[in-house]
Amino acid sequence: MALTISPLVILVLSSLSTTFLAMATTHEFKETQLSLYFQDIAAGPNLTTLPIAGIAGKLWTFDQFGTVYVSDDPITEAPSPKSAVVGRAQALIETSALDGRNALAFFSIVFTNKKYNGSTLEIQGNSKQFEPVTEVAVVSGTGKFRFARGYATLETYFVDAPNAYSVIRCNITVQHYYIFTR
Ligand SMILES: *[C@@H]1O[C@H](CO)[C@@H](O)[C@H](O)[C@H]1NC(C)=O
Ligand SMILES: *[C@@H]1O[C@H](CO)[C@@H](O)[C@H](O)[C@H]1NC(C)=O
Ligand SMILES: *[C@@H]1O[C@H](CO)[C@@H](O)[C@H](O)[C@H]1NC(C)=O
Repeated sequence: MALTISPLVILVLSSLSTTFLAMATTHEFKETQLSLYFQDIAAGPNLTTLPIAGIAGKLWTFDQFGTVYVSDDPITEAPSPKSAVVGRAQALIETSALDGRNALAFFSIVFTNKKYNGSTLEIQGNSKQFEPVTEVAVVSGTGKFRFARGYATLETYFVDAPNAYSVIRCNITVQHYYIFTR
C-alpha cells in the first residue's frame, strides 16, 4: 500500500519549521546586568540637573514636596568622569512624599555606546532619597532591550558638595529579548 501524504500537510509543516527557525535566529531571551555611573552636576555653567517647578512660596529643593526636577546626566562605564561614555540618563523627578522623603523618578537610559547604541531602558519608581540605596523598576526598553523588565538600584557613589557634583551608581538587572539580526 502506497503511503500518501497530503501536500497541504507538508506545506503547513514546512512553514511551521521556517517560522521556528526564523524566530530562533533573530531573538534570544537573556538577562543582562549593568553597572552605570551618572555624572550629576547640580549647579554652575555645566549643570546637568535643575528644578523647573515647585509650590509657590516654597523652596524648590529635592526634599520639598511638589518640586519637579529635570536632568540629563552623562553616563560613564566607571566612576571617573573621564571614563568611557555609555549614554545619557534623561529624567523627570518629582518629590512625591508630603514629608519630602520620597521622589517619583522616571529615567530613560539612552545608550550611545557601540554595544547598545540607539537602544533605551525605561526606569520608573519610588526613590527613597534618604536611604543609601534605593530600588526602582525597569519597566520597558527599546532596540536591544525590547520587552525589558527588571530592577535597578541607585546609590550615591561620590559627592563633591562645594561643586554640587556627585556620581550616582545605577546597577541594572534586566531580562529582555536580545535581537541580533533584523
Ligand atoms: C564646563 O565645561 C567646559 C567644557 O567642557 C569646561 O571647559 C569648563 O571648565 C567647565 N566648567 C566647570 C566650572 O566645570
Ligand atoms: C550610534 O548611532 C549613530 C546614529 O546611527 C551614529 O551616528 C554613531 O556613530 C553611532 N555610535 C557608535 C558608537 O556606534
Ligand atoms: C553595584 O554593583 C557593584 C559591582 O559592579 C557592586 O560592587 C555594588 O555592591 C552594587 N551595588 C548594589 C547596591 O547592589
